[in-house]
Amino acid sequence: MKLHDDALDTLFRRARTHNGFDGRPVDDAVLHDLYDVLKWGPTSANSCPARFVFVRSPEAKARLAPALSSGNRDKTLAAPCTAIVAYDLAFFEALPRLFPHTDARSWFAGKPDVIQATAFRGGTLQGAYLILAARALGLDCGPMSGFDNAMVDAEFFPGTTIRSNFLVNLGYGDPSRVYPRNPRLAFDEACTIA
Ligand SMILES: Cc1cc2nc3c(=O)[nH]c(=O)nc-3n(C[C@H](O)[C@H](O)[C@H](O)COP(=O)(O)O)c2cc1C
Repeated sequence: MKLHDDALDTLFRRARTHNGFDGRPVDDAVLHDLYDVLKWGPTSANSCPARFVFVRSPEAKARLAPALSSGNRDKTLAAPCTAIVAYDLAFFEALPRLFPHTDARSWFAGKPDVIQATAFRGGTLQGAYLILAARALGLDCGPMSGFDNAMVDAEFFPGTTIRSNFLVNLGYGDPSRVYPRNPRLAFDEACTIA
């Protein structure tokens, strides 16, 4: 089934990157709905390497603040919720459950380069699924890579195999705070049909 134009507008054409949000909170039920949609997006060998921390309380925001670039700090502290999109380098330990029809764990165990590439690729895809799922559920997003990953890892994931990738502010956007829309590459600049 092809989506109607208004759905494509909501997901892509009219969706914007948000820098400010109205006062409405993002409650636990919405975050559960968000994960229950995004989790169905595909990853290699169904590895599901992404891990998400929804930073919402003032105490947790204060832990995040020192790692943020100066341009991202105020808007992130003001956002109702900030998702840390991370990936678990031990993702392959779950493969006997997530991909049970074959020994997929052995494709990764002891192979750090394959682990890193697969975790980062799949975790990044799942972060993109989060953005699109959020838009589909009526939320707005402000993705950010302007922060110190090592500081976030030390604060939120010490002594673990989890590494941060990027952040996404989540809430109900204030349209007056978006920047002017920039163009995208044309089909012939970005695509070839071989
Ligand atoms: C992975 C990623 C990292 C980004 N990092 C930042 C950032 O650190 N600070 C910021 O203000 N915007 C950041 N952006 C926002 C982009 O500049 C923005 O999404 C892009 O210009 C498209 O804007 P539009 O969705 O309004 O068309 C980031 C976006 C993505 C997807």
